[in-house]
Amino acid sequence: MKKNKVLIVYGTRPDAIKMAPVVIEFKKDSAIETVVCTTAQHRETIDMVNDIFGIKPDFDLDIMKQSQTLEYITSSIMEKFSKVLDTEKPDMVLVHGDTATCLICSLASFYKKIPVGHVEAGLRTHDIYSPFPEEMNRKLVGNIASLHFCPTESNRTNLLKENVPDSCIFVTGNTAIDALNTTVGTDYEFNCSELNAIDYNDKRVILLTAHRRENLGAPLVDICEAVLDITEKFKDVVFVYPVHPNPAVQNTVRPILFGKNRIILTDMLDVRDLHNLMKRAYMVMTDSGGLQEEAPALGKPVLVLRKETERPEAVEMGTVKLSGICKENIIADASELLSGKDLYMKMATAVNPYGDGHASERIHAAVLEYFSRST
Ligand code: UD1
Ligand code: UDP
Repeated sequence: MKKNKVLIVYGTRPDAIKMAPVVIEFKKDSAIETVVCTTAQHRETIDMVNDIFGIKPDFDLDIMKQSQTLEYITSSIMEKFSKVLDTEKPDMVLVHGDTATCLICSLASFYKKIPVGHVEAGLRTHDIYSPFPEEMNRKLVGNIASLHFCPTESNRTNLLKENVPDSCIFVTGNTAIDALNTTVGTDYEFNCSELNAIDYNDKRVILLTAHRRENLGAPLVDICEAVLDITEKFKDVVFVYPVHPNPAVQNTVRPILFGKNRIILTDMLDVRDLHNLMKRAYMVMTDSGGLQEEAPALGKPVLVLRKETERPEAVEMGTVKLSGICKENIIADASELLSGKDLYMKMATAVNPYGDGHASERIHAAVLEYFSRST
C-alpha cells in the first residue's frame, strides 16, 4: 500500500525550533513518508537549529539575502517551493506560524490543491498592522488550511469566530514547550563563553531580545535607552542581549549599547544556550513571540516590548505584562519588578498556559485521523 506523504516546511528560526519536535514525531512513524523542506528564509539561525535537533532537510531552497524585502521573499519562495511540490506530490503540507514562508508555502500548496495543516493556528491581535505582516499572514493561512492546530482554547475561539469548522480545529498546546523540554538541563555549560563567566547568584540577569519589523528604528532606540537607564539604577542587573543578525537591528543596537557596563551583547545564541540562559535569568524583556511562550513555562516574568500581543493568555494568567515601546513605561515596569518582591513572585508563580509538551503527538494523531477519513 502506498504510504501517505507529509511535507513539513519552515524557513525562520522560531518556525524551525517549533517544527523540530513535529519533524521528530513524524519521522518516528514508519507508516508515513516525511519529507522536510527549509526555504532558508533565514540562513545561519536555521542551520543552528537543524544541527541541534539533528534534522537534515531533504530540500533547502536557500533563498536568504542580506536585507531582503518581503516582495523578494514572496516571489522566490513561491517559485522554488512550487517545484518541490511538483517533484514530491505530498498528501499534506505542514506549515508553521505567521512568517512569509508559512503564508507562501500554504498558497503554493493551495494552487496545487494539496491540503495544508497549520501548526500554531488561530493567534490574533485583530490589528493587521501589528505584528506586521504576520497578523495578516496568519489570518490568510487560516483561510487556506484544512487542519488547524491551536496552542490554546482562545486560539480555537478566534477561528470559530471566523467560521472555521470546529471539526478541523485541534487544541494541541504549543510545540515550543515540546522543544523546551528537550533543551533545558541542570549544570548546563554554555557554548557562548561569556555566559559561563556570569555569577548568576550575585547578579540578576535580564534576558533581552528585540528585532520585530514594527520596532525597527525609533522604538528600538527607545528600548536601548531604557536598558541604559535600568542598568544605571540597578547595580546588580546584567543585561544579556543576543542581537538578531538583521543589519537593521545590529546597526541600531550596537552603537548605543556596545561596551556599556553590565550589558552583554552576543551574537544570536544557539537554542540550547538561549533556553538555559532563560532558566537562569531573573526576568525576560522581549518583543519575540516565542520567548513569550517559553518564559512562562520556566516561571520567568516577561515584559513584552510591543503595543499588542497575539498571545494574551499569559497576560491573563499573570506571567506576562505588556509594557509597550515607550521608554518611560519600560523603565517603570522593569523597576517595579526589580524593586519589590510581590509583583515578581506573582508573575513568577503564575501557570503556563501553553501546554504540556505533548503538542507534536496530538498533531501527528490528528493528521493520521485526517488520512484515515479521506481514504
Ligand atoms: C522573520 C519573520 C518574523 C520572525 C523573525 C524571526 C516574516 C515576514 N517575518 O522576520 O515573523 O519573528 O523572522 O527571527 O517572515 N538574517 C541573517 N541571518 C539569519 C536570519 C536573518 O543575516 O539567519 C538577516 C538578513 O539580512 C535578512 C534579515 O535578517 O535579510 C531579515 O530577515 P527576514 O526573514 O526578512 O525578516 P525577520 O525580520 O527576520
Ligand atoms: N532564540 C534563539 N537564539 C537567540 C534568540 C532567540 O535560539 O539568540 C529562540 C527563542 O528561544 C525562541 C525563538 O528563537 O524559541 C524565537 O525566535 P525569534 O525571536 O527570532 O522570533 P519570534 O518568536 O518573534 O517570531
